[in-house]
Amino acid sequence: MDGWLAEIAAANALPDLDEVERKLLGKTGTVTELVKGVAALPREQRPEAGRSANQTKVAVQAAVDARREELESAALAADLGATDFDPTSPGLEAAPGSSAARDVRQPVKLPTGTLHPITIVRDELIDLFTSMGFSWQDGPEIESDWFNFEALNIPGDHPARDSQDTFWLDDGNLLRTHTSPVQIRTMKRFAPPLKVIVPGRCFRQESVDASHEHTFYQMEGLVVDKGVSTANLIHTMKTCLREILRRDVEVRLRPGFFPFVEPGFELDVNCPFCGGDGCSVCKHSGWIEILPCGMVHPNVLRAGGIDPEEYTGFAFGMGLQRVVMLRYGIDDIRLFMGGDLRFLRQFGEIAR
Ligand code: DAH
Repeated sequence: MDGWLAEIAAANALPDLDEVERKLLGKTGTVTELVKGVAALPREQRPEAGRSANQTKVAVQAAVDARREELESAALAADLGATDFDPTSPGLEAAPGSSAARDVRQPVKLPTGTLHPITIVRDELIDLFTSMGFSWQDGPEIESDWFNFEALNIPGDHPARDSQDTFWLDDGNLLRTHTSPVQIRTMKRFAPPLKVIVPGRCFRQESVDASHEHTFYQMEGLVVDKGVSTANLIHTMKTCLREILRRDVEVRLRPGFFPFVEPGFELDVNCPFCGGDGCSVCKHSGWIEILPCGMVHPNVLRAGGIDPEEYTGFAFGMGLQRVVMLRYGIDDIRLFMGGDLRFLRQFGEIAR
């Protein structure tokens, strides 16, 4: 048997090994004949001889298999060494108009996606507010009438409902028209002091134009504690806008009506485009309306299970698209959902 094993080890190429295997283990191979020969032996010798012949066959087959594996991996290594093919290098790019990727031996950076501008600004706002001690709450996009309207001090016959054209669902629920219902959900779930932001998607049955979308993003803010005042609101908003618009901002409050706040305000910033001198963007007023806000209405605190005699709060509702438009100088809200990759790709390149 040692001779056979030596023969196997001496096979230096796959065809040689095939030949040795055929000679030893083929139909009329030496080892095969040895096994067959057992049958011709006297009966009493057969068990012993049979066992030994089988062991030999198994050992020879194992030696052939092991040698084949060695030869195959040596052949693969030789193949790889003979070319400059590097299986770990990034893919090749076809020349424009060519179907042959191999023609252009230019390693390329594989294309990666970019974050959507709304996501970029939303994430920055989340970072900013969490650094100011706010936590981040989420709520359902399908809401009940109670959370979306009633609990926010907007009863069934209230004219404010008309300003929020609602997508109603067959079961009487609705697609939330703003992120404000999460104010109530938060108050019901946690005890004050509360400091939360709620970024989220909202829906209104709007006809779409350069500044209106049926699907849009807001970021609600809510602070409830003992002794919270308008001064806290102004300070928080100023800090936030300074960071997000990346400049020192002036803010001003104008009275604004929202049933869930009292008093309610429209908060303006000095125009980022002309710095307040007056231009077409700010309609020559020097100010741009940026977000509505106010002191939480006592009825809303009550609906959330909080005693308005003990606690006060402020809230704000930021239109994320609006902030993004001001930040990047975008003049048409439809670009955000339009799916034009040329528009979206730019945000991968803009230094953040
Ligand atoms: N929810 C209002 C809307 O979508 C925006 C708003 C106004 C939110 C005033 C507030 C607020 O939290 O205080 O029209």
